[in-house]
Amino acid sequence: MSKRNLKPGAMIYPLPVAIISCGRSADEYNLFTTSWMGTLSSDPPTCYISIKPNRHSHQIIKESMEFVINLTTVQLLNELDFCGMNSGSSINKFEDTCLTYEFGKVVCAPTIVESPVNIECSVKSIMNFGSHDMFIAEIVNVKIREDLIDANSNRVMLDKLQLLAFSYGNYHALGEVVGKYGMSSKNRTIVNNY
Ligand SMILES: Cc1cc2nc3c(=O)[nH]c(=O)nc-3n(C[C@H](O)[C@H](O)[C@H](O)COP(=O)(O)O)c2cc1C
Repeated sequence: MSKRNLKPGAMIYPLPVAIISCGRSADEYNLFTTSWMGTLSSDPPTCYISIKPNRHSHQIIKESMEFVINLTTVQLLNELDFCGMNSGSSINKFEDTCLTYEFGKVVCAPTIVESPVNIECSVKSIMNFGSHDMFIAEIVNVKIREDLIDANSNRVMLDKLQLLAFSYGNYHALGEVVGKYGMSSKNRTIVNNY
């Protein structure tokens, strides 16, 4: 099959998609959806989110230097889309969705109660890359629902959730496991670990 060359564009899919919560007090708390995010380092655990400067959340996070990544399941799909379609400059997204908050353990930003995993982040630097600013942050705490931790092995079982992914305009719910990390190296020593 022949291939066609397209104009260069942001074409890395699938992407994770999650709701970010931010703000230092109830009158400032805000939620927004992000898919331009990822892991930068495991030690110290470091991640990034990329935010357009015109987002209401951009200013809040620039001032507070904190945010929370709330992993999102198919049960929260409508809320996730809503938080990505409406700006906190004109509405209160906690009031206009069924989402509720509690306090982060380490950061002042709120965490979403209905999200199974809350990743608390402290911003270390902000870099501009044209249309978006990249907020590089250290992960300072991870809150996870008790039932997602195996009582015997202490292993985190994220595969019990239908987490969401975003691919070229569509939301997907993760479901089918098609392989395990290291499956190609059954009888060989794995040299490339996480
Ligand atoms: C699926 C999805 C992914 C998005 N990803 C990003 C992103 O990575 N960065 C960004 O700046 N905006 C992103 N947006 C747009 C913002 O979520 C949207 O502009 C939102 O209304 C901003 O809210 P705020 O003004 O209250 O901060 C995304 C929206 C959707 C629906």
